[in-house]
Amino acid sequence: MEIRRFVPVEASEAEFAGFHELTLASIAVDRPDAPVPSREAVVADLLEPVTGPGPSLFWTAHRSGRLAGVADVHLPEAENGHIASVRITVDPASRRRGIGTALLREALPELRRRGRTLVVCHGVTEGGDGEKWAYALGFRQVHRRVLQRLMIADVDPGLWEVQAPSGYHLEQWLAAAPASLVDSFARARGAIHDAPVGTSSYSTPRWDAKLVREEERDWAARGFEYFVAAACDEGGQVVGLTELVRHPNQPGDGWQQYTAVLPEHRGRGLGRFAKAAMMRRLVAERPQMVWISTSTGAENTHMIEVNLRLGYTTVRTVVVVEAGLDALETRLRQDRTPR
Ligand SMILES: CC(C)(COP(=O)(O)OP(=O)(O)OC[C@H]1O[C@@H](n2cnc3c(N)ncnc32)[C@H](O)[C@@H]1OP(=O)(O)O)[C@@H](O)C(=O)NCCC(=O)NCCS
Repeated sequence: MEIRRFVPVEASEAEFAGFHELTLASIAVDRPDAPVPSREAVVADLLEPVTGPGPSLFWTAHRSGRLAGVADVHLPEAENGHIASVRITVDPASRRRGIGTALLREALPELRRRGRTLVVCHGVTEGGDGEKWAYALGFRQVHRRVLQRLMIADVDPGLWEVQAPSGYHLEQWLAAAPASLVDSFARARGAIHDAPVGTSSYSTPRWDAKLVREEERDWAARGFEYFVAAACDEGGQVVGLTELVRHPNQPGDGWQQYTAVLPEHRGRGLGRFAKAAMMRRLVAERPQMVWISTSTGAENTHMIEVNLRLGYTTVRTVVVVEAGLDALETRLRQDRTPR
């Protein structure tokens, strides 16, 4: 077995084909609910992963000339600059041979060089191989999340005909908030701090207009379309919002971002109102879209219920696990050759 660094922009067609095969094999075992991605979608996700700002690094493991495993590491910035978000996937046919562990071991020195002290794995299917592997290596669970998906063609669009609650109106934009709304939009985004995140170490910034503009520029620079539907009060201030990103290279896929309503405006249906408006806009303006995926804290019953009423289906429970870099280095120090 050989492990090497992988740089997506330099990859060959044969390497991309290997990634596609590995992705399909993993989906069949680890995420059987997931839509089967085309080769183009897999390539697009490698070239422009749906992450926040910060670089992504890859390591690949090869066995008998075939791609047997991948470590995909995102390095967030600013207040999360101590974190490495790691996703390791081993071909189901090559599991329990030490490959996943070897990939992590290979990545650790680079993570340390880049000042990371905490390794986090998101979206690990509860009860699956990944969760068992993580606990065996000393990771601990910090959060449970529910994954929900809306298959657009399967849903009655009547579910998205939601009137504005009395005293509120809709504002929508793509890419950048109008100057007149950016301050109240930033303030309303702060309501995301109330979303349950368990004991996860990730921090969410105190949003202000400057940070909102930075985030807008980051999505645009990476080619993402960033849609916002906002509920505004009679004074014209944003008090609730929902956001979704989409990349033209993955035209069928939509990724929900924040949905947040300021505390004093909760309980009036503004979350459902904004999300329904977003759906009406997407089906009208992006008819190529096939599905939208979102995840929310397993205890966040209000958000889960809003999504169900809009046609989402709950497809899986996932966990977030964390381990300190020091502890992982100690745990993985014993030299164990993959078999
Ligand atoms: C997680 C994953 C990468 C592990 O890859 P792997 O190469 O099979 O893991 P390893 O062989 O290095 O496993 C090391 C140890 O973890 C534990 N372990 C791994 N898989 C396990 C399972 N299914 N059940 C119980 N223990 C398991 C065992 O202690 C194992 O050592 P052993 O085989 O000597 O008993 C692989 O299962 C996978 O791709 N899962 C789907 C993606 C995912 O959930 N990743 C989560 C981490 S980001």
